[in-house]
Amino acid sequence: MRVIAVANQKGGCGKTTTAINLASALSSLRPKVLLVDLDPQSHASYGLGVSSQDIEQSIYNALTDTPERRRTINDIVIKISDNLHLAPSNILLSTLEQELKDKDDAVSKLHLVLSQTVGAYNYIIIDSPPSLGFLTFNALRASDEVIVPIELGALSLMGVSRLFGMLELIKVKINHAPRVKALATLYDRRTKFSDIMLDEVRRFFKDDLYKTPIRVNVALKKAVYNRIPVEKFDGKSPGAEDYRSLALEVAKDESAFYNYAEADFTVNAPQAKEVYIVGEFNGWRMDDNSRLSRREDGRWMKRFSLMPGRYRYKFVVDGQWLLDSNNSNKEVNPFGSFDSILKIGEKET
Ligand SMILES: Nc1ncnc2c1ncn2[C@@H]1O[C@H](COP(=O)(O)OP(=O)(O)OP(=O)(O)O)[C@@H](O)[C@H]1O
Ligand SMILES: [Mg+2]
Repeated sequence: MRVIAVANQKGGCGKTTTAINLASALSSLRPKVLLVDLDPQSHASYGLGVSSQDIEQSIYNALTDTPERRRTINDIVIKISDNLHLAPSNILLSTLEQELKDKDDAVSKLHLVLSQTVGAYNYIIIDSPPSLGFLTFNALRASDEVIVPIELGALSLMGVSRLFGMLELIKVKINHAPRVKALATLYDRRTKFSDIMLDEVRRFFKDDLYKTPIRVNVALKKAVYNRIPVEKFDGKSPGAEDYRSLALEVAKDESAFYNYAEADFTVNAPQAKEVYIVGEFNGWRMDDNSRLSRREDGRWMKRFSLMPGRYRYKFVVDGQWLLDSNNSNKEVNPFGSFDSILKIGEKET
């Protein structure tokens, strides 16, 4: 599980646009992705078609200590698509700081809540508000990585040192130091100023800058208006292209920072006509990607490259759902039967 916060206290630099469209682009590369809307303005929820007035519970309910309002993170998550889930926000979130102000673990609340989802998500993307307050502190504390969108049309580097100040505070206070990478946003090729700024951002961040600058593109605005990710609104637009390319860069970092593991799955079923593997690593989907290949000795095989985590899965042999007979590790599922459980090692830190 990789937890990535999108943060910058500067308003309008593309945090929410990045959170929505990166989450969506990642969800077509790897299941599963959770987008956490940690901004009381609830723009990310809005952009994915969820209105704060229509929901009864939000991420606030997963974070509060008030017993009658408290829910688990699973209770409040909304399914946007098979691989993309949303923990929506509403205005109540702005009252959380006041509510938790005397609690020792207040700044680690989100971290604790997200830890309860281990194995359920490959990526958790957090959209944070335009301030360096309590909620942003929680987002940074909960994350392994931070993406800092830098708007190229403005004097954006000026405020960045304050964000680094907060990261330093987190390091000193709780010995937590997420990796930080900048993302150039609102890049306008037609203006010289954009290029001057891009050079400056490159000099400042060096290798800690995503190679993909996100271009100014009206499809990104229209997608919000239509309340869908840009990929769905216009998959051929420059905006969709840029966020696909960013998602590939983010996914590529995995081999550098995380222990990927190859997992081989085998089923001995010489008579079977069709065998699939379905589980949390592929969204429980039966498709070309989850079909096992039959070897000459009658065994069926499939290899997956998996991130660290804990995964439930089952085989589907000619329509029948079966446990993995090569793996004794199993657990009861919500339907009252069992799933096989696979654990893949911890990530390097
Ligand atoms: N690459 C882009 N091209 C065109 N418009 C964009 C682009 N990125 C963001 N926008 C638009 O700019 C505005 C601000 O973007 P966004 O909401 O993503 O910023 P934000 O940092 O989340 O803002 P806030 O600080 O208020 O949370 C929105 O109207 C959005 O549609
Ligand atoms: Mg925003």
